[in-house]
Amino acid sequence: MEFAGTSIKNERLLPGAGFVGGEWRGADSGGTVAVVNPANGESVGKTPMMGDAETRRAIDAAAAALSGWRAQTGKERAAVLREWHRLILENAEDLARIMTAEQGKPLAEARGEIAYGASFVEWFAEEAKRCGGEIVPGVRRNTQIRVTREAAGVAAMITPWNFPVAMITRKAAPALAAGCTAVVKPALLTPLCALALAALAEDAKIPPGVFNVVTGDSAKIGGEMCANPAVRVLSFTGSTEVGKKLAAACAPTVKKLALELGGNAPFIVFPDADLDLAAQQAMLCKFRNSGQTCVCANRFYAHESVRDSFVEKLAREMRSLKVGDGFGEGVNQGPLINKEAVEKVRAHIADATGKGAKVVVGGEAHELGGCFFQPTLLCGMRDDMLATREEVFGPVAPVYDFQSEEEVVARVNDTPYGLAAYFCTEDLGRAMRVSASLEAGIVGVNEGIISCEVAPFGGVKESGIGREGAREGMDEYTEIKYTLIGYCGEAR
Ligand code: SIN
Repeated sequence: MEFAGTSIKNERLLPGAGFVGGEWRGADSGGTVAVVNPANGESVGKTPMMGDAETRRAIDAAAAALSGWRAQTGKERAAVLREWHRLILENAEDLARIMTAEQGKPLAEARGEIAYGASFVEWFAEEAKRCGGEIVPGVRRNTQIRVTREAAGVAAMITPWNFPVAMITRKAAPALAAGCTAVVKPALLTPLCALALAALAEDAKIPPGVFNVVTGDSAKIGGEMCANPAVRVLSFTGSTEVGKKLAAACAPTVKKLALELGGNAPFIVFPDADLDLAAQQAMLCKFRNSGQTCVCANRFYAHESVRDSFVEKLAREMRSLKVGDGFGEGVNQGPLINKEAVEKVRAHIADATGKGAKVVVGGEAHELGGCFFQPTLLCGMRDDMLATREEVFGPVAPVYDFQSEEEVVARVNDTPYGLAAYFCTEDLGRAMRVSASLEAGIVGVNEGIISCEVAPFGGVKESGIGREGAREGMDEYTEIKYTLIGYCGEAR
């Protein structure tokens, strides 16, 4: 079928309705909200404008489905998740096209995200079978301590627009693997991928009520998720500001919280770095999703002895980037998500240049207009500039100078955030020392892309609570139970 100027094969992936208790539903009010392609401002679909009542119903459905799903063996849940994984891959091209249409990222990158998103389903399908516990010798004779991991209950998930598939699967797959049921609220700007995942969940025979998607009013849906006592886990990816509000709103019902919040990632180039590798990894790190990821380098620190060469190499690479509609041939930088994002990028550049930074590449809105912005390289950055303390979430690479290892580590750690940090060096001793001193949950050494399903993703300080992916990703959705068994070795 024709869709947003492209074509997709599986019409079921565009249901245009929320998914509650195994049924496709509109909003009670009948209201809908248009989904807009950020590349051209055109509407690519409509989704229901749901609110608190519909969310309550989804939570009720998830609560009703819990005991049956939790009672299945890990092996049974694994089989269903494997089928979901298979269907995601079978429909990968359609899903990628839907993603590019609603989010704007280049099609090649959208295809990459589908593979990345699917990898979490595969990984946690495997982990479902390993969600065991342990037997600990008792402290009194003839007793045994049994420690088990049990499904925490209904899990609510609030996901962002920058990764419309992977941030859902990275939460929902471990939840379902552990035996929890899920209610997902996708970002208002990118709900189509979430509904496509729900259609595939239905096809995979994930039982009704186990996976629900409600679209619409963020404040009302999020408010109900936080207040409802049946929800035992709230998982959120988004800004630190919103994360703090959600944590406060969950406090009265003392939920488990999994928070993947903002970052302010440094990328340090030491004097002993391989500068070609540093520039190449810097590009991957900075320009993934046009700079719109929480783990994109936000600040580059180049040692004063290599700063000019690094900037020259980075500038050369950046000039070869192709900005345009994500469906365009060879495009590797799509539009920013909306006008507010463009304004934020502009404000960062104006602040830096107003305080003396120099524009080496870009610096302006792109000639394509709308939400397109030129990849921008700034040098002569100082610590009192906005970019030092605030995530730009756009295609801007600001370069600062430094003189010593001790100095740069202190400067990069001087932030409330602690998600990712990167550095390039050929010195093993420095690699060990610096990675130990960085206040971050994720460190890339000579690597600019750190995300994968087998490694624990998450931050320290105000960048979040908990980990996603890896074995640790299941911990957010399980509770530990300790059972003391008495008289187990003695005939009575
Ligand atoms: C994010 O930006 O929120 C996630 C990025 C990733 O998974 O690599």
